[in-house]
Amino acid sequence: MTIHSWAPGRVNLIGEHTDYTGGLVLPMAIQLGTAVHGESLDGRIRLSSVGVAGQVDLALPISDPTAVEPEWGRYVAGVAASFPDAKGIDGAVSSTVPAGAGLSSSAALEIAVALALGAGEHHTPVEIAQLAQRAEHAATGMPCGVMDQLASACGIEGHALRIDCQTLELTPVAIPDSVRVVVIHSGEHRRLVGSAYADRRAQCEAAAALVGPLRAATMTAVESIEDDVLRHRARHVVSENARVDQFARALADEDLGSAGRVMLESHQSLRDDFEVSTDGLDALVAHLAGVEGVYGARLTGAGFGGCVVALCRPDIDPTPPSLDGWVVSASTGAHLR
Ligand code: GLA
Repeated sequence: MTIHSWAPGRVNLIGEHTDYTGGLVLPMAIQLGTAVHGESLDGRIRLSSVGVAGQVDLALPISDPTAVEPEWGRYVAGVAASFPDAKGIDGAVSSTVPAGAGLSSSAALEIAVALALGAGEHHTPVEIAQLAQRAEHAATGMPCGVMDQLASACGIEGHALRIDCQTLELTPVAIPDSVRVVVIHSGEHRRLVGSAYADRRAQCEAAAALVGPLRAATMTAVESIEDDVLRHRARHVVSENARVDQFARALADEDLGSAGRVMLESHQSLRDDFEVSTDGLDALVAHLAGVEGVYGARLTGAGFGGCVVALCRPDIDPTPPSLDGWVVSASTGAHLR
């Protein structure tokens, strides 16, 4: 049987470092994505990658995804290990999502592989996102939240998704024709993401142990936290949750000035309270804020380098000539072809 699956990358418009606290996020699946095509194969996964050396060759069932070579094969193995009915395939992977840019090339790979291995026969898109999240934990040890995988599995054309990461309720938010979304790489490669990300997550858990779940915490409770670091981390999360709804409302009203302002506030909070920005990201956001026709910009994804997302007029592309940028559109979620 011939198999052909596709899954998009994503850009997060707002709601950063909130998913793993049960908070709110607003990602959008993008037109750049990862495809898997091949023929079914009994009891084995054999995949090559267009443009990347090495072949993944695994016998099912998988016992330890962390030891698999080449490294991208760990995501494949993690997915196969995360659901018992995974079927074999002999084929190839190809992707238009730039790796390491913060556009979730790994989530796109996981979801495309999950569909190719038959996850759609047994699981809903939300369940597929959850099993891909477990796969990422198993493959890399990075304790990521579920935002990237949900955006890839559940995207809706023309819309971003407001996700309540406590209930996993998804609400489509239309992207008006009057805006363009542009993702620009700062030129700084992401570094220390794994350990610094895990530290931030642990700090949010420590703050929640003091004031209760951050999703429900008031700013008064947050300001009472004595430890400076924990107070700052919690302040980011609580204020960012509020900004997600402010931004979604502003988009619905086509109040692009307010939407842009909320993005700039999000960036400041990520820089000052959550401390995941870099000089390069700060300089790029400051530059974009001064460009005619740009409503707002902020770092997107985990931070520590990588990309900025900008909201601007549809007739401009504010990408500086020395940097890589992508005009992205809100795409449909993952599917079999
Ligand atoms: C990475 C993780 C997501 C999320 C973001 C930060 O992309 O995979 O789960 O936590 O960082 O918002």
